[in-house]
Formats: sequence, structure tokens, C-alpha cells
Amino acid sequence: MVRLSAYFLLSLISCICAVVVEHDGGTPGFTSAIARMPYDNIGIAVLSNDGNVGGSFTQVIKYRIFDEALGLTPFDFDSLLKPLAAETQGAGPALSRPANATPPTGGFEAIAGKYNDGGYGPVELCLASAVNGSSPSGGSKSCQSLLTNASVILPGVINPAVPTYLVRVDKVFAEFLSLAHYDGDIFNVSALTSYPTGNASAPFWVDGATPGVAGVVATFSSDGNGTGFGITGGAWGAVADDPIGNMVKERSEVWFSKV
Ligand SMILES: *[C@@H]1O[C@H](CO)[C@@H](O)[C@H](O)[C@H]1NC(C)=O
Ligand SMILES: *[C@@H]1O[C@H](CO)[C@@H](O)[C@H](O)[C@H]1NC(C)=O
Ligand SMILES: *[C@@H]1O[C@H](CO)[C@@H](O)[C@H](O)[C@H]1NC(C)=O
Ligand SMILES: *[C@@H]1O[C@H](CO)[C@@H](O)[C@H](O)[C@H]1NC(C)=O
Ligand SMILES: *[C@@H]1O[C@H](CO)[C@@H](O)[C@H](O)[C@H]1NC(C)=O
Repeated sequence: MVRLSAYFLLSLISCICAVVVEHDGGTPGFTSAIARMPYDNIGIAVLSNDGNVGGSFTQVIKYRIFDEALGLTPFDFDSLLKPLAAETQGAGPALSRPANATPPTGGFEAIAGKYNDGGYGPVELCLASAVNGSSPSGGSKSCQSLLTNASVILPGVINPAVPTYLVRVDKVFAEFLSLAHYDGDIFNVSALTSYPTGNASAPFWVDGATPGVAGVVATFSSDGNGTGFGITGGAWGAVADDPIGNMVKERSEVWFSKV
């Protein structure tokens, strides 16, 4: 048993039993794993067309093939990793918006509008759900055209009871962001990509509509360090410590300044 799981443990704790050089990958709707044991002449690539739990499938398949290639008795990686997959990819975060959530400092309408980050470029926050029973004002022409189509291209994304901004970003990692109000100046961020289905009764499918456990949040602030919002919670993908500081801007991974 110890020998069987040695290379598995390698990726969790340091062990010199076998050298594995590996990297996982993913893009909306897909996950992949590539792994080599350079001193054993083994190379494995596993591709999955599931962007949610596919990352666990690829691991189970990868380890099963390693077992096979090394002539080992197969270890039950499926039972080992399935609960982990359920935990990390499950029903989403336990906490929802507090019933007594307070509005952001400057109100919801004031937050809508254009922002800019030097790296990510300009974005426009469009208020997509009613606040205090009044319909979203519509805002700019670009917001109006986005909101006209939102229920079709982003089905299920806007909870009418939660003030939410939609942002078109058109990036590789996401086509849209949603910022759903949590409490005060804090909003939960989801990265969304909309795909046509070819099915007339449900013409679009949204990847990312269920918030993950990542806990990415946007915090709005206005002080001597600027007016805008900072994103925290591991959105930037950097393998580094979280930024620290007294001001929202200082402790944000990414800061968008109000334009
Ligand atoms: C929203 O963000 C808050 C604050 O970080 C967090 O506690 C909560 O779980 C998040 N909710 C969702 C649905 O992501
Ligand atoms: C919503 O109503 C509450 C209570 O009347 C008020 O404090 C708040 O400013 C209103 N928010 C907006 C965006 O109008
Ligand atoms: C978006 O809305 C415009 C104007 O209503 C419409 O012409 C267009 O077909 C819509 N696009 C989608 C994908 O629904
Ligand atoms: C098309 O979408 C509807 C509504 O979600 C669904 O009931 C139906 O099974 C879908 N048809 C196909 C062929 O997937
Ligand atoms: C910005 O934040 C820093 C660190 O908290 C603070 O020392 C500085 O005074 C702030 N700048 C302004 C103009 O308030």
C-alpha cells in the first residue's frame, strides 16, 4: 500500500520515491492533466469536457494509468478523490446574503458606471436588478443593450431579490462578471461565460453561474487612496501571499479605479 500510493503522495507531500513532472489545466467547460515520470518513461495526458468536476476525473484517470503502467495493483483513487470533489465543487458556499444586508456606502446607483485597471482594462458595471422595487435605470446605451439580452444569454444569473451588476469583460477567463450584493460595500463575484446550446427552448448555457468556493469578492471604497473597487479571494491566480494593508486598494489583488 505504501508503495502504491507513493507517487500520489508526491503531489501532496514531498517524497523522493518517483519523480513526477505535471501540470493541470482548464478553461471554461474543460479540464486537463498532463503528467510525466521522466525516469520511468511514462507520459500521460487526460482531457475532460467537464469544467466543474472534470478536474477530479482527470486525476483519478491519471493515477489509474500510472498504476497500470507501473504494474501496480490498482489503488482506489476514485473513492479517495470523489468526496474531495463533492466538497470543493458542491452546492456552492454555505452562506448567502444576510437578510438585514445594508446598502453600499454611496448607494447602489452610484456604483454603476465605468472603471479601469491598468492590466485588465476598462469595465462598465451595469445595475441589472431592481433596487428597492424600482427597475434598473438602464444606464448607458451599452448597459441597456447588455441588460436587454441578459435573461436570454445569462439564464439564472440575476436573482431579482439581490442587487447585481453585470460586467462585460470579453476575456479568455470569462465573458462576463456578475457582482451580487452581499452586505455593505461587499459583493460576491462570479466569472461567467455564455455558450449557445442549439436548443431553441434553452438557447444559452452559462458556465460559472454557481459561485465556487473560491470566495472572490469585490469591495468598494472611496477614500484618499482612490474611489473604486478591489478584488480579493484568489482571483488573480498568483501563487503568492494575499496583499495586506489598511486601505481596500492596498489589500486588493486587482484594483479598478472609478473613471
Ligand atoms: C459572499 O461573500 C461573503 C463575504 O466574503 C461570503 O461570506 C459568502 O459566502 C459569499 N456568498 C456567496 C454566495 O458566494
Ligand atoms: C432603499 O431603501 C432604503 C430604506 O428606505 C434606503 O435607506 C436606501 O437608500 C434605498 N436604496 C436605494 C438604492 O434607493
Ligand atoms: C440581443 O438584443 C438585441 C436587441 O434586442 C437583439 O437584436 C439580439 O438578437 C439579441 N441577442 C441575443 C443573443 O439574444
Ligand atoms: C432543450 O431545453 C429544454 C429546456 O431546458 C429541455 O427540457 C430539453 O430537454 C432540451 N432539449 C435537448 C434536445 O437537449
Ligand atoms: C493611502 O493609504 C496609506 C496607507 O494606509 C495612507 O498612509 C495614506 O495617507 C493614504 N493616502 C491618502 C491620500 O489618504
